[in-house]
Amino acid sequence: MSPNDNLPDQNLDPKDWEAMRQLGHQMVDDLIDYWEGIREEKIWRPIPDEVKTFLDQPIPENGQTPEEVYQEFKEYIFPYNKGNVHPRFFAWIQGTGTPMGTFGDLLASGMNPNTSIGEHSAMYVDRQVVNWCKELMNFPSEASGILVSGGSMANITALTVARNSFGEEKIRQKGLKAASAQLLIYCSVETHSCIQKAAEIIGLGTDGVRKIQVNERFELDTSALRTQIEADLQAGFLPFCLVGTAGTVNTGAIDPMAELLEISKEYGLWFHVDGAYGALAKLDPIYANALQAIEEADSLAFDLHKWLYVPYEVGCTLIRDAKKHRDSFAITPNYLLREQRGLSGGLDSINNYGFELSRGFKALKVWMSLKEHGRAKYAAMISQNNRQAVYLGELVELHPNLELTAPVSMSITCFRMIYPGLDEEALRELNREILLRLQEEGIASPSSTILEGKFTLRVANTNQRTRMEDMDLLVREVLRLGNQIITQG
Ligand SMILES: Cc1ncc(COP(=O)(O)O)c(C=O)c1O
Repeated sequence: MSPNDNLPDQNLDPKDWEAMRQLGHQMVDDLIDYWEGIREEKIWRPIPDEVKTFLDQPIPENGQTPEEVYQEFKEYIFPYNKGNVHPRFFAWIQGTGTPMGTFGDLLASGMNPNTSIGEHSAMYVDRQVVNWCKELMNFPSEASGILVSGGSMANITALTVARNSFGEEKIRQKGLKAASAQLLIYCSVETHSCIQKAAEIIGLGTDGVRKIQVNERFELDTSALRTQIEADLQAGFLPFCLVGTAGTVNTGAIDPMAELLEISKEYGLWFHVDGAYGALAKLDPIYANALQAIEEADSLAFDLHKWLYVPYEVGCTLIRDAKKHRDSFAITPNYLLREQRGLSGGLDSINNYGFELSRGFKALKVWMSLKEHGRAKYAAMISQNNRQAVYLGELVELHPNLELTAPVSMSITCFRMIYPGLDEEALRELNREILLRLQEEGIASPSSTILEGKFTLRVANTNQRTRMEDMDLLVREVLRLGNQIITQG
């Protein structure tokens, strides 16, 4: 008899299920109140030192009641949210989320399946969502795909397949030493940093990335691209992949997709599209043409937590050639054997299409969202964001103390305040101070960037709660704060 035999069985379930039910209902009520009233709330508030201290304590040795834990959440965590649920959140490129998407996550977490292998419903939901992603992007039904945490993972997944599919070199098996020279990826200087990170991680190094200059609209300059490819071929390098961006993170610029597709065919390059932000703008008729060629890409990465407004995290990689995709990741150790029947039966393991073995049921929030609203509603919402960006651009152009710092593209408007007699440095300080006050006073949250040396207020709108009137308010407040700062000297 072991000394433990007399210990009572324990578990982590509530002692009082009824109390837990009530607490759960309270949490849902609080969330609904939060969303319903969010427009009247400050978008952001600074975190007091006392809260930071509270959130910097050693691990508790003993537990508290669920009610106490929830109370602490309400006091120390809930009020200091980032703000991307708010109608005037325009920083970086971050989606708003939706109530149904949130409940999808709640249910997924409650079911808690590891959605990687086995015969269970989550696997089929996941497959259906990937198929819907193919439909959204007009990819062939034989293409493959995988849901991942976001755009960065979606891009590295695609670039890994691109690298492993290069020539007859068997890079997956032999590593990069199988290639006779340095492999090169081409993209523009405006490409998201995750492409460079991915190249570094998959062994190409920073030197394996050729960043091509852009034109005045911040789109990849194709004649510079051709010149660079020719020079690299002459020098004995191995160009293998061309990355076009469907909506750059800085300004929303769309690289000339049709031309990039042509160039990739001409030089035998893998054509990858980073559409993390903008691929879904395909649903807006105004952008459908500019984005048409992404349908023919070898691979495409896009985020659902941005412009499908699904709660964090979920992105998607699509690969035209499913075999190449599977050949890049498939591996079947003894403990992951598939059977014809039973729990280990069913669909091909999702782990055969990506790096992660443990995967949550992130497909459910997407499935529920698409079922709730349908494709047409998303198309309307994306068009609405694009119109709001154009409207903001018009307001900027109408005012003598404001100027656009980039053409409005998709749902990103970049502008700044200008003022007679202020030099570049003073303008930078003025606009930086406007930005900080907008955030600190809880009015709106644009973010910033620097475009051709100009410090810029960057309004990136993938927000399902924004109204046209928010654009009027934003401009009014920028001018009010700007004038206040100038008056204060
Ligand atoms: C064009 C582009 N690519 C990649 C990413 C990275 O996506 P994620 O933040 O989902 O990893 C972003 C994020 O804003 C992006 O805009």
